[in-house]
Amino acid sequence: MKIINKISELQYELNKNKNSLGLVPTMGKLHNGHRALIYKAREDNDFLAVSLFVNPSQFGSNEDFSKYPKDIKIDLEILKSDNVDLVFTPDIEEIYPHNFSTKVVIEGLTQIYEGKYRPGHFDGVSTIVTKLFALFKPNKAYFGAKDAQQCAVVKRLNKDLNLGVEVFICPTIRDKDGLALSSRNSYLNIKQRYAAVLISEGLFKALELFQLGENNVSLLCRKTRSVIESNSLLEIDYIDIVNRDTFQKYINVGSNSIMIVAVRIGDIRLIDNIEIR
Ligand code: PAJ
Repeated sequence: MKIINKISELQYELNKNKNSLGLVPTMGKLHNGHRALIYKAREDNDFLAVSLFVNPSQFGSNEDFSKYPKDIKIDLEILKSDNVDLVFTPDIEEIYPHNFSTKVVIEGLTQIYEGKYRPGHFDGVSTIVTKLFALFKPNKAYFGAKDAQQCAVVKRLNKDLNLGVEVFICPTIRDKDGLALSSRNSYLNIKQRYAAVLISEGLFKALELFQLGENNVSLLCRKTRSVIESNSLLEIDYIDIVNRDTFQKYINVGSNSIMIVAVRIGDIRLIDNIEIR
């Protein structure tokens, strides 16, 4: 496994590669959710690259950039054991050198839901993903359904800018009790971890009711809300059922519907979603 932190070296290595290239972008502190993307990408591609970069431009000034969990040593061990060919671990200056002044902004889609609560977040995501696609020119790139709005953003920029990458969305990996795996789960104390399970329980409740014939969005959201808010540690930022590509809100469940939710537990913020079908 090649470990590379300079763009010039990366380009040199990639120029030598004539095989189909799969890319899994990550911010590290790898867990089984990341690894599911890596396994899928390993199956699909001759050459597999993973990027580990905690991207400062997608964190707001009041967010957890400086304390975002990191464990590069363990991450590298995981990547090696998962048969990754190349890991890109650049410094911030390598990605954003002095005078870097370009921003990729997607109108509309990035101003609602997560974008409303985290202004500028998706500009940071769009810019780094565009830059990674430009650097790697991957045939395929892999993202997790857990970050549903990020998936919509990546698919949109890839289409709008004709980047030509095949974008694969892989299912959300959950802990045994249902909590979606997230690097941020490591911030939760025991009581918070116990409460957090209600997020997925609320989502599963909506799916169950839908499958029993209920398709009224506000009723489904009310039911999920009451499950989540049954523990006072949990505060909902938003909950809704939307089209997974446009994030337009539904009145009744429609095609490609997902229920999305963002919850605060103390100063930790978790997001999750489920397909309603
Ligand atoms: P990060 O949070 O490290 O996640 C990297 C990838 O893993 C994302 O595509 C994310 O959706 C996926 N992922 C995280 N938890 C998952 C889970 N439980 N099941 C399935 N997939 C999961 O998302 C980012 O980094 C960044 O925004 C990035 C795209 C790398 C740009 O900086």
